[in-house]
Amino acid sequence: MIPLAGPSITQREIDYVTDAVTNAWYGNANVYHARFESAFAAYVGRKYAIALPSATSGIHLSLLALGVGPGDEVIIPDSTWIASAAPIRYVGATPVFVDVDDATWCIRPDAFESAITNRTKAVILVDLYGSMPAMDELLASASTHGISVIEDAAEAVGSEYCGRLAGGFGHTSVFSFHGSKTLTTGEGGMFVTDCQDLHDRARFLRDHGRRPGDIQFLNSEVAFKYKMSSMQAALGLAQLERIAELVERKREIFSWYADAFRDTDGFVLNAEPAGTRNSYWMSTVVWDRAFAKDKNDVVREMRERGVDVRPFFHPLSSLPAYADAPSTKCARERNRVSYDIGSRAINLPSGFSLTREEADRVCEVLQAVLG
Ligand SMILES: Cc1ncc(COP(=O)(O)O)c(C=O)c1O
Repeated sequence: MIPLAGPSITQREIDYVTDAVTNAWYGNANVYHARFESAFAAYVGRKYAIALPSATSGIHLSLLALGVGPGDEVIIPDSTWIASAAPIRYVGATPVFVDVDDATWCIRPDAFESAITNRTKAVILVDLYGSMPAMDELLASASTHGISVIEDAAEAVGSEYCGRLAGGFGHTSVFSFHGSKTLTTGEGGMFVTDCQDLHDRARFLRDHGRRPGDIQFLNSEVAFKYKMSSMQAALGLAQLERIAELVERKREIFSWYADAFRDTDGFVLNAEPAGTRNSYWMSTVVWDRAFAKDKNDVVREMRERGVDVRPFFHPLSSLPAYADAPSTKCARERNRVSYDIGSRAINLPSGFSLTREEADRVCEVLQAVLG
C-alpha cells in the first residue's frame, strides 16, 4: 500500500527526543517547551506561542480568549475538517458555514461578507491543505465589522501570502502537529498571537486557571488542561530546525503530481495564486464532472489497488453531526462550490516516504479507476 501520509524523522529528531526523555525532568522539565515555543514564534514572526496537545485545543482557547460564547455566531468555511468547527460548539456559540473559492478551496470574501449579522463575533479562516485564502479582503471586512479573526493554519506551516508566513494573520492563529502534518510531534499543536492579553488568557485557561506566580493550588477559575509533553516539544523543535527542507520536499512531491497530470485533461490540482506560496501539505486532485464517479467509490477502489487516498472534506453542513445547525438549511444551494468540489476530489499520497515512481503509479491508478 502506498501510504497517504507520514513524517520525515532523522537522527536530529531521535537525538532531541532521547535527550528530552533522559534529561527534561526536575528543574529542566520545561526546557524544550521554552525552546520550541520561542523558536516557533520567531519562525512565524509572532510575539507569543503556546505549545498545546492539538490544534483543536488551540481553536478552543482562541474562542475563549476572544470572549466568544452563547448567542454568538462564528463564520467558518464549509469545506474543512470538523476540528476547525467543533470548538464553536464547545463554547456554546453557533457555526455559520459559508462557501469557498473554487481555486483555493478556502473561504470566499463575498460569502463571508454576506453571512455577517449583528451576532457575528468571529470568523475562522482555514488555510486548507496549505492554500491561503484572500487574506487582504477578508481581514479588511473583518476589521470593518469588528469581527475577531482566528486563522486555522493547522495544515499550512510554511505557506505564504504576500511574503508573510501562514500563522501570521489572525488575532490568534493555530497549527497542528498531528502525525500526518508537515511538521509533526505525533499529536500536538501551537497557538500564536501578537496580543499579550490573548496570550495571557490562553496560557491561564490551558493550565486549570493558574497564572505563573499564583499561590500554588489556589485556582481562580475552572478551566482546561491543554499541554504537550517535553518529548513532543523536543521532536517539534528538531522538526522546526528542518522546516525549510520539509516544505521543499512537500513542494517536490506536488511537482511530481503536477508533471504526471500535465498532459491529461480533466484534472485540477491545488492552486498557488500569484503572491502566495503553497506548502502543499496534501496534494489534492479534483476531476472533471464528466467522469461521473462517486468520490467514496474512488477512495475504496484505489485502496483495493494499493493506493491509500482520502476523500476531500465533505461539507460540514452535510454532516449528521450538524443536522440541527441553523446554517445547514439550504446550504447545498448556498455553498455550491463546497458541495461540488467536495464530491469529486481526493487527497493523494503525500507522505515524506513517497517516491516519484509511486507518484506516477498513483496517477495511473486514479485514471484507471475513473475509467
Ligand atoms: C484544518 C484543520 N483544522 C484543525 C485540525 C485539528 O488539528 P488537531 O488534530 O491537531 O487537533 C486539523 C487536523 O487535521 C485540520 O486539518
